Amino acid sequence: MEPPILIINLKEYEQSLGEKPIKFAEVAKKLSDKHKVTILIAPPTPLLNEVAKITSTISQHLDPFEPGAHTGALIPKEVKDLGAIGSIINHSERRIPHEDIKKCIDLCREYELLSVVCVKDNEEVKEIAEFKPDFIAIEPPELIGGDISVSTAKPEIVKNSVNDVKKISPRTYVLCGAGIKTREDVKKAIELGAKGVILASGVVKAGNVEKAIEELIMGMK
Ligand code: G3P
Repeated sequence: MEPPILIINLKEYEQSLGEKPIKFAEVAKKLSDKHKVTILIAPPTPLLNEVAKITSTISQHLDPFEPGAHTGALIPKEVKDLGAIGSIINHSERRIPHEDIKKCIDLCREYELLSVVCVKDNEEVKEIAEFKPDFIAIEPPELIGGDISVSTAKPEIVKNSVNDVKKISPRTYVLCGAGIKTREDVKKAIELGAKGVILASGVVKAGNVEKAIEELIMGMK
């Protein structure tokens, strides 16, 4: 997958419920084709398949199981069968134990899914890098949903993540997220060595979604 990468996590905002992810997916597809950039959409689980028919899609969460008696779980084989190409794992709003993160990464490898593991600080970056996921997304929890981006408020946390991951797992790409809204936020993230960004509110809550995504794309160029 060609960096830089933009991941839009639709979470479970009012603006993301029901059939609404389809609109986001159509806009993302149009803009990624137009600007030749990689955009991944992470919709609420019920719309995973619909969105995957339109554009590159990942799930918001993963449970570390093979098919079986796991009520309410979202498992790698199902994510794959529904047409998604990967998953967010251990998002700040859905954290799981480290041993489960490792199992999820291994299952993603088995089912040829991209693993995007979210981490909260530089300590966790180093621990997760040992599991060699495809992506590590550094997201300081206190900046999530706010107006100051991680690349502005905590540039050192992005830089340190990039350096640490390079030493432990050179094939893992580092992304950053939290508070990303403008082209400047994206540009700074990339200058700090990130291979892309992951964000939610800056797009989901925007009055004009197309304009909001295009603004972010400008920072990727
Ligand atoms: O998964 C992305 C996320 O947690 C960042 O959220 O709203 O700060 O862009 P937001």
